Amino acid sequence: MSFKTSVIGLGYLGTTQAVILAKMGHSVIGIDTDKAKVESLSSGKLTFFEPGLAEMLGEMLSSGRLRFVASYPEELREVDIHFLCVGTPREENSDEVDLSAIIDSATALAKFLSPDALVLGRSTVPVGTAEKVRRLLSEETGSKQKVAWNPEFLSEGTAIRDSLKPERIVIGVDDKESETILRQLYKPLTDSGVPLLAMDTRTSELVKVASNSFLATKVSFINGVASVAESVGASTTLLAEAMGLDPRIGSQFLRNGLGFGGGCLPKDVAGFQMQAQKAGASEFASLLQSVSNINRSRVQQTLKLAETLIPELSGKSVAILGASFKPNTDDTRESPGLTVARELFKIGALVAVHDPVVKLDNSLEGLVVSSELDLVIKEADLVIIATDWPTYKELDPFVLGKTVRSKYLIDGRGVIDIPGWQAAGWTVLALGEGTPSHG
Ligand code: UGA
Repeated sequence: MSFKTSVIGLGYLGTTQAVILAKMGHSVIGIDTDKAKVESLSSGKLTFFEPGLAEMLGEMLSSGRLRFVASYPEELREVDIHFLCVGTPREENSDEVDLSAIIDSATALAKFLSPDALVLGRSTVPVGTAEKVRRLLSEETGSKQKVAWNPEFLSEGTAIRDSLKPERIVIGVDDKESETILRQLYKPLTDSGVPLLAMDTRTSELVKVASNSFLATKVSFINGVASVAESVGASTTLLAEAMGLDPRIGSQFLRNGLGFGGGCLPKDVAGFQMQAQKAGASEFASLLQSVSNINRSRVQQTLKLAETLIPELSGKSVAILGASFKPNTDDTRESPGLTVARELFKIGALVAVHDPVVKLDNSLEGLVVSSELDLVIKEADLVIIATDWPTYKELDPFVLGKTVRSKYLIDGRGVIDIPGWQAAGWTVLALGEGTPSHG
């Protein structure tokens, strides 16, 4: 069964959503008020990097099922499902979620909403947002409107796979009709074995922030273990491998290092903490506060390791490898590697940053960012691996050793083979790896 759909908000989530809906055979109108973005997408150019998505965008534009517009068109009155995919960032100087884009887009949509249409929220939102949108639409249109929530769980870098083969589909529905529509929409996926869980909108809104907060807690747990391992001379990599083999623990999200970044985990932990505090769950709020604190402490630990190698960093050249918050994306939001870069810059180091895909007009608040590795590491006094891009695993310590000024390296992501680099004459310090002392 194919639906007439609209996707409102063409950021990372909305663009992926629009392309995937067209791929599933639905007709899609993608809407964003940013004209430049709409022009770029209409000509087949993505506004961010995501493996495989540009090719699929081109294919879907040619199929005739997908188009992009910069204002709300009349045809919206014929649309069956409107996907709300606008951004829900943190409010400035607070951990509250800024819902203004949700409110603005719902208000604009109300003028073109047919009474039978379903408005489906996909953005990550605080509890009660679906009900708020439903009230707003009913007031604006003067009739009862169907609003459901369907949190997305896709990760940057694996968005296509996560959309077409998700581990689960969660639908938040407060009425039977919305549930029937969503079960029809997702039939091709559920027929292929993907579990679909239907629940009320409030629970569905919580599932998303609770899931992201749990993932963040796992990362901070292993990073907390790492600070103990560092001081007692143990290896977090080996320890995590042993822990992860217990299926009750699981090996995913147990990689220690510079910690989590991006537009989702840090924001969702902070938002969920606020929600917990308001709900009177203060012990849980403290747990989430510790998760954020441990995460930030990894940047400090990296700076400490840098000072162990070079006590006076001012005037020294530091090469940071990796600007994106994780591999396979050009997203630099809350990138731990860039935080390290900025901190080193503040204390007078000469910082150059390499990234295979991030382009920041070659400069970021005084930092040089380049995709030319040779340029970035030339005559460096210290190299820091900040993102686990697969290409950094392949680096040859002998070749690199000829370009740098001093063979000092900090592995912030457990990327390199430490003995191999030491054999090539490098002094290596790695987050989470203490030096064992025997005797
Ligand atoms: C995250 C969730 O994984 C998705 O399920 C969710 O849909 C998405 O947020 C969202 O809310 O939209 P994403 O932000 O793309 O996805 O990135 P992750 O793969 O979760 O990685 C987050 C951070 O944790 C990265 O900085 C990564 O380097 C770090 N990380 C991850 C670790 O430090 N150690 C690990 O073992 C795993």
